[in-house]
Amino acid sequence: MSKNLSCAITAVAGWVPDTKLTNEDLTNMVETSDEWITTRTGIKERRILKDPDKATAYMSSRAIERLLSKRNIKANEIDLIICATVTPDMLFPSTASIIMDSIGATNSFGFDLSAACSGFLFALKTGASYIESGSCQKVVVVGSDKMSSIVDYSDRQTCIIFGDGAGAVLLEPTKEPVGIQDSILKVDGSGKQYLKQIAGGSLRPSSHKTVDNKEHYIFQDGKTVFKFAVSKMADVAAEIMQKNKLKAEDISWLVPHQANLRIIDATARRMGLDNKKIMINIQKYGNTTAATIPLCLWEWEKKLKKGDNIILAAFGGGFTWGAIYLKWAYNS
Ligand SMILES: CC(C)(COP(=O)(O)OP(=O)(O)OC[C@H]1O[C@@H](n2cnc3c(N)ncnc32)[C@H](O)[C@@H]1OP(=O)(O)O)[C@@H](O)C(=O)NCCC(=O)NCCS
Repeated sequence: MSKNLSCAITAVAGWVPDTKLTNEDLTNMVETSDEWITTRTGIKERRILKDPDKATAYMSSRAIERLLSKRNIKANEIDLIICATVTPDMLFPSTASIIMDSIGATNSFGFDLSAACSGFLFALKTGASYIESGSCQKVVVVGSDKMSSIVDYSDRQTCIIFGDGAGAVLLEPTKEPVGIQDSILKVDGSGKQYLKQIAGGSLRPSSHKTVDNKEHYIFQDGKTVFKFAVSKMADVAAEIMQKNKLKAEDISWLVPHQANLRIIDATARRMGLDNKKIMINIQKYGNTTAATIPLCLWEWEKKLKKGDNIILAAFGGGFTWGAIYLKWAYNS
């Protein structure tokens, strides 16, 4: 597709809480072992936001402040903030509103976007459209989740997986041949029953019963989610390569959603990619839902070179999944 204005990621930053929850810690909470968790998921530890008065907006704001200070940009220069999250501070106002108030983004509009672990990709594509249409000059996309607020720490199937964190990118227009090149985003709503938070919405408002039934925690049918994730994430990554006539040797980096090392390996194998080209930090942070991909970009930023072909790929609740192909826009 030819277009006059392209959208590029022009800065990236992240924020994770200091407190670590290690596999060893989890063995004191549920019947599990470091060996089981490591071999089944690749996770060694996750970060947890302990302060009960701080949540997703707090982590997002810290990540965005770091992002803006890197580029010496003031918060009131931002046109739009999109917050991808499944753990909003409240159902309303939006977490984006809370973030804007916290950082002083007084000339911006913003909203939350819910697509679970694919949230960052869906938000990135949405933000890019505002840039490509010429209606915004500076868009911030933040993927942020305080998963510890919805994890049942007596459920060994889910408590081993998730962690807290936030990652943010700045989007700006470019006339150079870099930036976001293509995207494939998908939803199959028939997957809705396999990964969900049942209560707290308008269908099952909070009540003593919903609390007693533990319906405010993540429910996951791990086996089914795993089966779909392995095939869909690999399929969509291969599809975007084919569509753009990319061979494995053309790709500099795969940035996979960090849900499970086995899902990441399957995707990389399907793409024919060498391990050296895959960003993996799941061992340190676990699955931070909407934050995994920007946290990877943040940690690898110094290694990225202008023109690098990068594939982002994710799968999550909904089911949602997708891939974005971009050319990195700057040298650090
Ligand atoms: C959750 C997940 C790690 C479980 O791994 P698995 O290989 O599917 O394990 P199973 O569910 O088949 O369980 C195998 C056995 O281990 C047990 N088990 C489950 N969790 C365990 C844990 N934390 N420690 C030890 N044993 C555990 C099960 O009870 C089961 O025992 P059984 O055979 O006696 O019934 C895996 O299904 C997964 O990663 N799913 C996708 C999760 C995901 O990515 N979610 C986010 C989507 S974006």
